[in-house]
Amino acid sequence: MKAKNQKLIEKLNQLLANYQIYYQNLRGLHWNVKGAMFFMLHEKYEELYNQASEVIDEIAERILMVGGQPLHTFNDYVQTATLPEVKNVSDGREGVETVLENTRFLLVSFKEIMEDAGEAGDEGTAALMSEWIGEAEKQIWMLESYLA
Ligand SMILES: [Fe+2]
Repeated sequence: MKAKNQKLIEKLNQLLANYQIYYQNLRGLHWNVKGAMFFMLHEKYEELYNQASEVIDEIAERILMVGGQPLHTFNDYVQTATLPEVKNVSDGREGVETVLENTRFLLVSFKEIMEDAGEAGDEGTAALMSEWIGEAEKQIWMLESYLA
């Protein structure tokens, strides 16, 4: 039980690190976007990074609730994250494709953690993942619709 909890805490910390990369990817897109869709995308990225910021806080606080210590330094995030960083993307379509790929990546993590949390008997973490799975699926649908 203890070992399962430890594994879950590690996975949550990896999700936290990946989410920080996702957040910073969105900030970069918000700052660098250029072109005909500027006003819409600049605003959309801001909405998304504000949502990401709330999720980040909830992941970190969940880690504390289950007895872990959330990572909080840039160094730890960069070393732990597996989500790729994006740099200097100004093209609108490429930016939205990046957000779509990042969201698909995070959705896979939510599903894995939900399963692990279920096995560890941690219903609170499973419920959080379940909520975010639904939100990620909605976001994927919207981004795919934009790109279609
Ligand atoms: Fe801004």
